[in-house]
Amino acid sequence: MAAINKIKRMNKINIAIVGSGGREHALSWKLQVSPLVGTVYTIPGNGGIENSIALDIADYNVLLQWCRKQEVSLLVVGPENHLAAGIVDFFAGTEIMVFGPDKTASQLESSKSFAKSFMSRYGVATAKYVSVEEPYDASSLAKTAAEFNGKVVIKYDGLAAGKGVFVCNTQFQIDEAIATILSRYGNTQPIVFEELLSGPELSYIGLTDGRTVKLFQASQDHKRLLDNDEGPNTGGMGAYTPVTMADSKVDKLVMDEIVLPTLKGITNEHFNYKGFIYFGVLMDNGKPYLLEYNVRMGDPETEVLLPSLKTDLLELVLATLAGKLDGTGMEFYPGSFVDVVMVAKGYPGDYQTGNLIHGLETTIPGTWVFHAGTKKMDAGIVSSGGRVLNIVAHGADFNEAREKAYRLCSSVQFEDCFYRCDIGAKNI
Ligand code: AMP
Ligand code: GLY
Repeated sequence: MAAINKIKRMNKINIAIVGSGGREHALSWKLQVSPLVGTVYTIPGNGGIENSIALDIADYNVLLQWCRKQEVSLLVVGPENHLAAGIVDFFAGTEIMVFGPDKTASQLESSKSFAKSFMSRYGVATAKYVSVEEPYDASSLAKTAAEFNGKVVIKYDGLAAGKGVFVCNTQFQIDEAIATILSRYGNTQPIVFEELLSGPELSYIGLTDGRTVKLFQASQDHKRLLDNDEGPNTGGMGAYTPVTMADSKVDKLVMDEIVLPTLKGITNEHFNYKGFIYFGVLMDNGKPYLLEYNVRMGDPETEVLLPSLKTDLLELVLATLAGKLDGTGMEFYPGSFVDVVMVAKGYPGDYQTGNLIHGLETTIPGTWVFHAGTKKMDAGIVSSGGRVLNIVAHGADFNEAREKAYRLCSSVQFEDCFYRCDIGAKNI
């Protein structure tokens, strides 16, 4: 590959990652092990990520000048907010390579109605839906909900950090969801009503250059706070890969009914999409349905997917940017990977911060601690966010990975830390 050979002949490449969570820690770790890489910076990073840089990048000109000064030639964008704000469009006009979709393509994540109409245009398997444009009121929304016979999922259109989706099984929940949407968001964006599906969820995540999609092995997130999928929704309490249920038959169904039609749409609409892509899939009666696109890596899925990837991530990123993803392979380590997320007391509501983290020096071979909400203080590393740490382990099989992850959880601790004890229980 010309781009890679050029870099091999040149000096090593410096990279800046944008973001501050466990996903960015895992990206930083995986890119740093590439022999093609010089320095990996993370902006703003956190207490556990090497070379974290506290730079305010609200103005992308500031980031551009900083990249030039540090001789950074590749920007990898972690979270969706910068992609939706057009960071890729901004850097496309500069000499710095940027990994991610542009603002138009990012609407696949930032607008539920944009995504649903794209899915229906290209025959992507998804739940039946109705999109209601503004202006609307409680009674017009209730009328649309009634078309779904009392079981419906109501989704606010814009980026809502996981708080804009209301799964309603009863009329009471429907009324409550409509009232919440009207009071929280006003009458500002379309509302999507969707058929309520039921079944296990899978995350299919990969890279696309707009012509090819290469997927990591399937993974599974755990969105609820408590064991047995009880309690409120969170940003993710743990993940594992691979998933036994996602056998070659399921992989093929997902490829044929979701991934390939999506790719056709990306090509047809001439999206500028060179980046990570995430398919949130629900298996209802053995058939896959796409619940959502994310235009980035998932968190906490990244924290198991990148340790499981044998292939050099930078080679994949450069091949994607060169439009040559079809010529590359992806290899994975055998065995299983489990991530247990440690959260602060109070999360996902108001949470405690400032607790000193003990036991970070513990070494168990084949384990990683990816920091999410931490910062470095004189006394040591302290908690500074709701999700604090990702405790990740590799095992020859799933049970060994789980046992190692939980063994490490009993050594790495902070006051009132909390984690689920059943990550991956459904895989057994
Ligand atoms: P989304 O942001 O669209 O992926 O929705 C967030 C979560 O809501 C999903 O991970 C599912 O657990 C649930 N959900 C979304 N859409 C549906 C649906 N049509 N049927 C059942 N559950 C859904
Ligand atoms: N794990 C779900 C997400 O990253 O949105």
